[in-house]
Amino acid sequence: MKDDVRALAAEFKAFLSSREEDDLTPAACHQAAAHVSAAAQGHEGQLAGRQAAAPRSDDNHGAASQPQDHLTIEFVRAGKHPFHTVSAASVPTAAPAASQPHAAPAVSAAQTQEKAASQDALTPQSTDTMQDKQAALNQIAEEIKACRRCPLGQTRLNAVPGEGNPSAELMFIGEGPGFDEDHKGRPFIGRAGQLLDKMIAAMGLKREQVFIGNIAKCHPMVNPADPEARGNDRAPNAGEIAVCRKYIERQIAVISPKYIVALGGVAAKALISDTKSLGALRGKFHLLHLDTVELKTPVKIIATYHPAALLRNPGWKKDAWADLQMVMAEMGLKRPQA
Ligand code: URA
Repeated sequence: MKDDVRALAAEFKAFLSSREEDDLTPAACHQAAAHVSAAAQGHEGQLAGRQAAAPRSDDNHGAASQPQDHLTIEFVRAGKHPFHTVSAASVPTAAPAASQPHAAPAVSAAQTQEKAASQDALTPQSTDTMQDKQAALNQIAEEIKACRRCPLGQTRLNAVPGEGNPSAELMFIGEGPGFDEDHKGRPFIGRAGQLLDKMIAAMGLKREQVFIGNIAKCHPMVNPADPEARGNDRAPNAGEIAVCRKYIERQIAVISPKYIVALGGVAAKALISDTKSLGALRGKFHLLHLDTVELKTPVKIIATYHPAALLRNPGWKKDAWADLQMVMAEMGLKRPQA
């Protein structure tokens, strides 16, 4: 049985790297990914298995399921960290997906396919000006919206390409969209997103100055048949990450940031290409490692807690703040006066 699983995992790896679009039918991908996850669960706690097995308790659940955050106020008063948690009631309604910075002019399927093929090459695109970068990001966003390379593409309500400054010096990258993001097509707009906004503000930056994206571009669900259910989020599994990673890698290559903050273990492990725990990866800069594109300049990456984890564990906020302060020191940013 284990041998079968190993064989399937190897087969899946091989057929992912074959880059034949026809091979990547959702059903085949789903089946293979499930076997990869099963295989990984059986071996030294590898990335995939744990993610696939563990539903994500995220920002996107109803308020009743969220822990109360009384302690947070105390941390703020004590000066341990400057971001406090918002209540579910104060989460504003997101702008419609059509008003995203990435909304792009309609392109034909043939044009999209042709461009997708040319951009699969291992070369960075010409991205010298802000306009060039925005156009390149728009193109990637269109490809993401048309993508059906894994089963998540069949069950999502909206793809979530990411948004922000095309020339951002700093990117924040999470694991994958949740309920709210799936409904609106924008990243980090639920409760975790509200906390992320506060973390960004505490660094003296505005959300529009940075770029916010995810490793997986479509909503990983525990029960994919019910995208309307709350509490249905999970982390993307190894197969889904493998299929999707070319998009975030191309976005990074276009934006060419100096720094990336990886939010949570899934994003950190994928981007640092290390299976160590988040605890072991936190607290220092790593050099970004990309599989599918070349970087023009090295990018420093720091791993910290996912804002959804901070909502559940407010006591970790001081450590997350310490991580963000390392980035601020490198970028020469000062915390705004209260
Ligand atoms: N969690 C993530 O990792 N990404 C989002 O966009 C929202 C919640």
